[in-house]
Amino acid sequence: MNVLLIEDDDRVISFLDRGLRAEGFGVTLATTGAAAERLSYGGTIKKQADIAYAHDQGVTLFAFDSATELEKLAAAAPGARVFCRILMEGDGADWPLSRKFGCEPEMARDLLLQAGDIGLEPYGVSFHVGSQQTDPEQWDIAIGRTAMLFTALNEAGIELRLVNLGGGFPARYRKDVPDLDAYSSAIMSAMTRHFGNRLPALICEPGRGLVGDAGVIQSEVVLVSRKAYDDEVRWVYLDAGKFGGLPETMDEAIQYRLRTPHDGGPTGPVVLAGPTCDEVDVLYEQAGYELPLDLAVGDKVEILAAGAYTATYASIGFNGIPPLKEYYI
Ligand SMILES: Cc1ncc(COP(=O)(O)O)c(C=O)c1O
Repeated sequence: MNVLLIEDDDRVISFLDRGLRAEGFGVTLATTGAAAERLSYGGTIKKQADIAYAHDQGVTLFAFDSATELEKLAAAAPGARVFCRILMEGDGADWPLSRKFGCEPEMARDLLLQAGDIGLEPYGVSFHVGSQQTDPEQWDIAIGRTAMLFTALNEAGIELRLVNLGGGFPARYRKDVPDLDAYSSAIMSAMTRHFGNRLPALICEPGRGLVGDAGVIQSEVVLVSRKAYDDEVRWVYLDAGKFGGLPETMDEAIQYRLRTPHDGGPTGPVVLAGPTCDEVDVLYEQAGYELPLDLAVGDKVEILAAGAYTATYASIGFNGIPPLKEYYI
């Protein structure tokens, strides 16, 4: 059986105490208890009916990155405050979010101007420097672009008020990462460098950095095998895989730390794989994982720092989107 345990981590427990499901971005509106007027609807790809629902509930702050999304907002959330997400390259991030979201600053300028013309309040700019961002200086680049956009809007007579710094703060996987202070000082010095003493309001949306370190997936070894008699490399098959909570092992991007009952003993190279019949369900082949030679079927392998983007990805309803219905006809 593989299960996700959330350890007694103050940051997470304080969220859970408030009824929040604090995994990555998967905070469920209905259960938060947070006042709707304090929420930001941060997705840039929304159905118009969902915008209308959120607006009816009292949400007044929405993200967008395209003209069509802006039209939906104007129709379903008239008068709402809107912020435009700009593209970032995701350099320095182990899990970049570089192509799917955001638009070029030049387009953002035009869209924010257009927002004012169609009954919305152009309110700010957002970005995401990429998830598991290991370089705090990436915020300097993003904040510099944002400040230029503020200036361009100001020249057109619009005063923006909000910078949404996104997420990106890292969990501690196999590689060491800078501590949170390094991020906050890089961000605040970038803000003062680019905005002087006219600082706008700031929002940040930590996901992984908030809850990643708090989770442990308890998995079990299903099989240890070799592909040839003289193979040095063992294949270790766990009962947790790419389809069971570990999709971020795609391209071996997120490399979890592992704990076994035989830690401290002699180790050898392994390929680590999930249990399903799919060829892509291999977790790590190139990343140089070694596990104890004593590891055997039935042993528990703990996958550490697995509190973010695991259970939500494995669950039905990721991001609140319902699963496929099946009809037999
Ligand atoms: C808009 C937005 N903000 C914040 C986050 C959280 O990012 P992270 O887990 O890197 O902190 C995400 C994650 O996808 C996101 O899409």
